[in-house]
Amino acid sequence: MSFNTSPALGVDALWSLCLALVRERRAGAAFSDLQGMGGLRWQEEPQGWVLGAGWDDAAVERFALLKPVLDRRSGGKPWVIGQLGQSLNGCIATRGGDANYVNGEEVLTHLHRLRALCDAVIIGAGTAAIDNPQLTTRRVPGEHPVRVLIDPALGLPDTLRAFGDGQAPTLLVCDAQRADEAAKRLGGDQVLGVPGLLDSASGAMQLRPLLDALAQRGLHVLFVEGGGVTVSRFLAQGCLDRLHLSIAPVIIGDGRPGLSLPPSAFMRDCPRPAGRVFRLGGDMLWDLDLRGSHA
Ligand SMILES: NC(=O)c1ccc[n+]([C@@H]2O[C@H](COP(=O)([O-])OP(=O)(O)OC[C@H]3O[C@@H](n4cnc5c(N)ncnc54)[C@H](OP(=O)(O)O)[C@@H]3O)[C@@H](O)[C@H]2O)c1
Repeated sequence: MSFNTSPALGVDALWSLCLALVRERRAGAAFSDLQGMGGLRWQEEPQGWVLGAGWDDAAVERFALLKPVLDRRSGGKPWVIGQLGQSLNGCIATRGGDANYVNGEEVLTHLHRLRALCDAVIIGAGTAAIDNPQLTTRRVPGEHPVRVLIDPALGLPDTLRAFGDGQAPTLLVCDAQRADEAAKRLGGDQVLGVPGLLDSASGAMQLRPLLDALAQRGLHVLFVEGGGVTVSRFLAQGCLDRLHLSIAPVIIGDGRPGLSLPPSAFMRDCPRPAGRVFRLGGDMLWDLDLRGSHA
């Protein structure tokens, strides 16, 4: 009788594979040419990448969580994943804007993984102004994404870290009509003027033109990291493919809301996206498929 005594592969080996896949995607490789890559097998839609045998339970679970991003192929139409980390009562920060930290370490590390797997990370002006974030992948190996700050009112100060630290490219997004004004302050390479970002009649922000403008720059796999207003706008305009909602066992009194959408009259009209729950430390992450079946 013989036993297979080789140790199971773990999450570190899986992460190296994930980074290799992203490099291949960015290089424009056809996944069908990468058959058998480190125990991963590509099958045409809807399967995508399939993990072979020999991985430990943690790696299998991690693969399931990241697979929707890993399955993105190069080019094509933009694909967008959003995230919010919220309290039990649906808040993402205190009223004053303190969000350090709603979630535990494992969720924070997961966000850095999503940054590494996506071409660009997108935040709203409120988050940029309050958090002054670096938006890097410093918790995990992996390339930093392009940093996209949506600021149609041009209210953000030039002194934000993302504009000056040189760690990764940064784009301030405004309507094309104000791009010259922004470029005078930040330099043309840090400004993305989007025609039609603001509806000429209502002034409301239109996100489809932004996704198209990012795709034209080769940024197809996009991560909307917050805050609540921005993720809600993407959701309301049908611009999210996936949402990672991480719920922490904390209650925030009268805080900043997470998802905030127009009112629904009846429960039967409320979408129920297909989803799966993952435990990340003390938090529960809902992985929601916003293009999938609605019960
Ligand atoms: N827990 C999490 O997962 C998470 C993730 C990201 C951020 N956050 C927290 O969420 C909060 C921000 O989220 P949010 O929903 O309020 O906004 P947001 O989605 O980041 O940004 C959207 C809005 O920011 C507004 N804004 C607010 N303050 C601003 C300022 N000082 N300068 C420029 N624009 C400003 C703009 O309002 P107008 O439309 O009026 O122009 C804009 O439309 C922060 O406290 C941040 O720490 C939490």
